[in-house]
Amino acid sequence: MPSSKALAAAMASHVGADTGPVVEFGPGTGIITKAILAHGVAPENLTLFEMNPSFAANLHDRFAGVKIHVSGAQEAPDLMPATVGAVVSGLPLLSMPSWLRRDIVAAAFKIMRPEGVFIQFTYGQKMPLSAEGLDALGLQATKAQKVWRNLPPAQVYLLRRADV
Ligand SMILES: C[S@@+](CC[C@H](N)C(=O)[O-])C[C@H]1O[C@@H](n2cnc3c(N)ncnc32)[C@H](O)[C@@H]1O
Repeated sequence: MPSSKALAAAMASHVGADTGPVVEFGPGTGIITKAILAHGVAPENLTLFEMNPSFAANLHDRFAGVKIHVSGAQEAPDLMPATVGAVVSGLPLLSMPSWLRRDIVAAAFKIMRPEGVFIQFTYGQKMPLSAEGLDALGLQATKAQKVWRNLPPAQVYLLRRADV
């Protein structure tokens, strides 16, 4: 089930024209991509990581000027410099194996500047990583919006480096 417009807008509300380079993990059909651009991020400042080639081709046709890597989010550190201001993730992190979930979040923090923010939604109240997983990566999580106008309702989380 794609995210609702309300959830996409809530995720995109944490980035804007001043964020600098923004990366989106798992854009799928592009509902969050559209909201990120509508929130002021310039196409040339947005990079997508989408593993599914047909979704990636469709995104390429729809979003001129946006860079797209047809590869796993976990490969991001091999493909771009560590200058990113925010990573917006539409990945179903909690349904992934814990090792992959941790690899993906670690990859996000490898490509971000120290003050960078990782934006993730989950269903229910579950954090994107366990408390132990956050500790192991030196991260802290804070709750942002609760989006009731989504099926199921979603909680937006912001992850940041704990020492910044
Ligand atoms: C549940 S869909 C979410 C789509 C959209 N972001 C939304 O919220 O409606 C997850 C998307 O992530 C992609 N995906 C899954 N694992 C991935 C990975 N490791 N790296 C990049 N994309 C991945 C899938 O191909 C799919 O398009």
